[in-house]
Amino acid sequence: MTAQNMDELVALCKRRGFLYQSSELYGGLQGAYDFGPLGVELKNNLKAAWWSAMVHERDDIEGLDASILTHPAVLRYSGHEATFTDPLVDCRDCKKRSRADHIVDGKCPFCGSTSLTEPRPFNLMFKTTIGPVEDGAEFAYLRPETAQAIFTNFKNVVDSTSRQLPFGIAQVGKAFRNEITPRSFIFRVREFEQMELEFFVEPGRDEQWHHEWVQRRLDWWREQGVSSNHLSRYDVPEDERAHYSKATVDIMYQFPHGVEELEGVANRTDFDLGSHTKQQAELNIQAQVEANTDSTAKLAVQDRTTNQWIVPFVIEPSAGVERGVLAVLNDAYTNEVLEDGKSRIVLRLKPHLAPIKAAVIPLKRNHEGLVEKAQSVRIKLQRLGIGRIFFENSGNIGKSYRKHDEVGTPFCITVDFDTLDSDTVTIRDRDSMSQIRLACDELPAYLIDELQSKSSI
Ligand code: GAP
Repeated sequence: MTAQNMDELVALCKRRGFLYQSSELYGGLQGAYDFGPLGVELKNNLKAAWWSAMVHERDDIEGLDASILTHPAVLRYSGHEATFTDPLVDCRDCKKRSRADHIVDGKCPFCGSTSLTEPRPFNLMFKTTIGPVEDGAEFAYLRPETAQAIFTNFKNVVDSTSRQLPFGIAQVGKAFRNEITPRSFIFRVREFEQMELEFFVEPGRDEQWHHEWVQRRLDWWREQGVSSNHLSRYDVPEDERAHYSKATVDIMYQFPHGVEELEGVANRTDFDLGSHTKQQAELNIQAQVEANTDSTAKLAVQDRTTNQWIVPFVIEPSAGVERGVLAVLNDAYTNEVLEDGKSRIVLRLKPHLAPIKAAVIPLKRNHEGLVEKAQSVRIKLQRLGIGRIFFENSGNIGKSYRKHDEVGTPFCITVDFDTLDSDTVTIRDRDSMSQIRLACDELPAYLIDELQSKSSI
């Protein structure tokens, strides 16, 4: 049985240190969450899996890590200043604000009043002042998507890598949106991370590549342990699409609160590169006249065989890290009734995502010989570079197993009194709960093999 509702997941995340409400000590900051000791491992593992699939396993994608602070001109010419808005409605009675598309039957979702204002556009971008004088003249935006810096660095990357079409630029990083109504735990927040790929293709090949990327992204989510039954695709109709999109397919996921977007795969055409090129040309006209050059930054690729300049079309798979974390947690969460009638909660995370790969547990807490041996086993395994190996000195094996089931640790290794004589340990498998005894020498190879074979589908 998976999680019955969001509350079960939220409780587990808090209890075990995956996620905390941001600024909780001072009453909480709405729409912001902090990843705890296990959450940060899970999140980093998910991002690493994405980076590996995008940048390392392919040879047609480059990486980028651009600044969050963004020059206002970038977001003016990308169309975000004018169109990155949600329709906002005020309730005249309770004074709360809602998104107009969240109003049902003309009633305020908070108090039920029908005394609502007309919807007005509300821009979702956060601004911050630059420099020591807060007069508002010098400001920057916190980027609302990572994509724009990929477009503005397009020429830099092409010039320094000599890429030809098709090729992509990938980026993982923070994005900020002043959402009117953050909600559903980490599903809709004001500060989040995106894993975005801008894949540049020849115009005319865009539809084929769009189809290809939707399939690849669905496959990737399945490789992260997301069940096919919880995934679906939604062909976004024109009136719901972003201003730059010719076609968008949303990858939808059955979250505990309902079916909603996990990732968007958009065909952004040449909208962004075209728009920045045009603005560059206009801004540079004067400079060119003065310098008598033709140095306009052309956001285009020159085909080596035809010498033709091509402004590529862009296919953009864009996934939210928080929504990804929520999806893999939800799919992994299992409330199991055991043969003896007892139950256990187990996170059946794919091992490559598990925050802790193995826990090493001395049978008796603070027993000098056992603790020393357990620590030496832990250090040896930690040095394999397979992720976090945890020293669990609770002295209560049953309790340790329950804890590590709940946080998704694939293996528990127990160091007992036999270990001191025979240099063997027991390894317990999280999913089957079966145990085997193994020589300490064989542990590294066993763990590497098992983690790898259980991670692939
Ligand atoms: N560059 C394209 C873009 O930003 P988007 O559909 O607005 O497209 C992409 O966002 C993804 O970012 C979404 O599919 C979602 O996973 C994530 N995302 C967007 N807004 C979010 C929010 N307020 N909280 C958490 N994740 C969000």
